[in-house]
Amino acid sequence: MTKVTFISADGRQRQEINAPDGAILLDVAQGAGQPLEGTCEGQMACSTCHVIVEADDFAQLPRASEAEEDMLDLAASATRTSRLSCQIVLTEAISDLTVRIPAESHNMQGM
Ligand code: FES
Repeated sequence: MTKVTFISADGRQRQEINAPDGAILLDVAQGAGQPLEGTCEGQMACSTCHVIVEADDFAQLPRASEAEEDMLDLAASATRTSRLSCQIVLTEAISDLTVRIPAESHNMQGM
């Protein structure tokens, strides 16, 4: 089980969820009502599932694939610890994970 903490884009709201092993972070976020669109449903073709991982937690995640990195390059407000939540599988190796919802999680591409 992984304790996932979501922080709202303005930093004012925190929501904690216990996610079962094997859960996809995007599914957990959507199930919790977090505003992540995840338009392509995990096909790495959008980036609307982008989250910003807390710096302390970033290293415990497996590295992003090259395809994921390429998609993140296109994401609005991406940072060094950005990830696509559809690519993050929560395992027992990850006991705690804190992620922030980016300010522009809606589709701003092409602007
Ligand atoms: Fe589209 Fe993650 S849901 S890249």
